[in-house]
Amino acid sequence: MTDTPEHANKPANMQWGGRFAGGPSAIMQDINASIGFDRKLWRQDIRGSRAHAAMLAKIGLLTPEDEHAITTGLEGIAQEIEAGTFAFDVALEDIHMNIEARLTDRIGEAGKRLHTARSRNDQVATDFRLWVRDAIDGLSAQISGTMLALAQRAALHAADPMPGFTHLQTAQPVTFGHHMLAYVEMLDRDRGRLADCRRRLNACPLGSAALAGTSFPIDRHMTAAALGFDRPTANSLDAVSDRDFAMEFLSAAAIGAVHLSRLAEEIVIWCSAPYRFIRLSDAFTTGSSIMPQKRNPDAAELVRAKTGRVTGALVALLIVMKGLPLAYAKDMQEDKEPVFDAAEAWALSLAATAGMVRDMTPDTVRMRSFAGSGFATATDLADWLVRVLRLPFRSAHHVTGRLVAMAEARGVDLAELSLADMQGVEQGITADIFSVLTVEASVASRTSYGGTAPANVAEQAARWLAVLA
Ligand code: ARG
Repeated sequence: MTDTPEHANKPANMQWGGRFAGGPSAIMQDINASIGFDRKLWRQDIRGSRAHAAMLAKIGLLTPEDEHAITTGLEGIAQEIEAGTFAFDVALEDIHMNIEARLTDRIGEAGKRLHTARSRNDQVATDFRLWVRDAIDGLSAQISGTMLALAQRAALHAADPMPGFTHLQTAQPVTFGHHMLAYVEMLDRDRGRLADCRRRLNACPLGSAALAGTSFPIDRHMTAAALGFDRPTANSLDAVSDRDFAMEFLSAAAIGAVHLSRLAEEIVIWCSAPYRFIRLSDAFTTGSSIMPQKRNPDAAELVRAKTGRVTGALVALLIVMKGLPLAYAKDMQEDKEPVFDAAEAWALSLAATAGMVRDMTPDTVRMRSFAGSGFATATDLADWLVRVLRLPFRSAHHVTGRLVAMAEARGVDLAELSLADMQGVEQGITADIFSVLTVEASVASRTSYGGTAPANVAEQAARWLAVLA
């Protein structure tokens, strides 16, 4: 009995198997194939092939008939994939060879001419850039939508006070609108990072071929323009072997996800019973199977958690790329899944965040009632001593500290101390000091540029709405 390995009977790969007598082992096929995930690139692959074929025809490397056959063949393949009738074959490894093999099935000889003056190395680099660029455009629009939801909330609550925290301890009153606009600023920078990434990404690797360029008289400016790139890449080795555009995208994604996780965490806190600053409706909460009273902010928790996989994707790709010698190495096939996964997680997190911001009902009365707690207007008192009595700030800080200690010992707010109590600590104090100890006076006084005064917040919210709406 002979022990024949199963692969000895398999045919060699049709696309590159000229020098191979047998096919790959099942394990080799499993580890090598990327079609399970890179089929996501099919639109970009077809787009790239059409641009390449048009260019080959223009320089006379394809007849007009062949180019026509290729174009209609690729259109047919797009319809098959769209309709779900395309048979992806793992033996053909990846999306590039699946589409090319099917093209040759459909149109014969002409299909075999398409791969002139290109390689899968420049092909995948081009497809992937196109995919990331599309993802950037989609995510940027989603970020804008989320910013709009936040800015609308901010406009509604420009004058509604809430406790502002540092160390999650009551610090100074702010307005809920101001808090919302803080996230608008963060998301605007997230959008800016994507725009920067897009600018650097937007050069076309197609025509770099395997690594060295090609001897054919191709027109790389033509393909670059046809695919919406600003220019062709200038170094063929770099073009096929760097994935910094993907790493930049993932860096932007990781930062964006971290921003969303902070709002998500605040939503979780604000929904909890001791806070009850906001309420989320049935649309964005779930119940507990054992505790009938529960209303859990799962969407916010999951947005908070997705940060883990997005950041993990960045780390994964950085480590895949670390130490790789030029030019292409198969390691780089591992670039796609982290990017696909992170883009999906970010998109879903943005959708959930925008949804929750639109859905939430802030309890402004309750927020207001806590806005002055924890001696939140102590800084206002100290500022009054500086402004009116001309005390140095350090001395004013000390006087205020003594008044806070007195109020704390008596279990009252600063505003509930009597004028005599205050004068016992600093004799120059007059009754005017009480005018700065209310929450409303406190927020209204924060008129410095970027401060929380309702007039400022209303102005900033209007500025954002004008840009976003
Ligand atoms: N599926 C491959 C990838 O994603 C395409 C490039 C293959 N190139 C090669 N020389 N085997 O990286």
